Amino acid sequence: MRAHLEATLIACEVFENGICSLLSALVPVDGQEAWAALPPNLRLWTDDARLLLRELPDASVDRLFLLFPDPWPKARHAKRRFVHPENLALLARVMKPGAEWRIASDDPTYQAWVREVMAGQTLFRGGEPATVRPDGWPPTRYEAKALRAGRQPLYWSFFRV
Ligand SMILES: C[S@@+](CC[C@H](N)C(=O)[O-])C[C@H]1O[C@@H](n2cnc3c(N)ncnc32)[C@H](O)[C@@H]1O
Repeated sequence: MRAHLEATLIACEVFENGICSLLSALVPVDGQEAWAALPPNLRLWTDDARLLLRELPDASVDRLFLLFPDPWPKARHAKRRFVHPENLALLARVMKPGAEWRIASDDPTYQAWVREVMAGQTLFRGGEPATVRPDGWPPTRYEAKALRAGRQPLYWSFFRV
């Protein structure tokens, strides 16, 4: 974040505790004015990311990260998965041509689901996922948990056509 001050980053998290953890990690505890300590290029969206996607202008996003989304492994909950045919047009509208959508998941059901959904669409191009986190991708807490538990994450890059 601080290494790329030219880029504005919008962090989306619908769960209040997740926002609190992020702020605790970013803000030092030495009494410094909290907001002054935040990276100037960071924005927080403390609601459903899909609502933000509806608000953003057309072709305004260069890169989108979906790292270890909730897998909703039961078939009857498939509609809640973020990678979903109904969300693709929403994502595609806000992404610039050639913009990258990074997806990582350690859940085998979700991995198969990403393959299936992305094979059945024409808005994004992309190939086989990497099995090792590519350079430049941030590590995450869920990734660390998955690796400790012996699960194999997959890392996809899709590009807006
Ligand atoms: C499994 S956690 C992964 C968190 C983090 N990316 C990581 O890898 O450590 C998924 C997070 O996505 C959040 N989330 C799920 N659906 C969301 C949505 N529609 N909009 C914003 N956040 C969402 C959940 O609250 C949860 O904190």
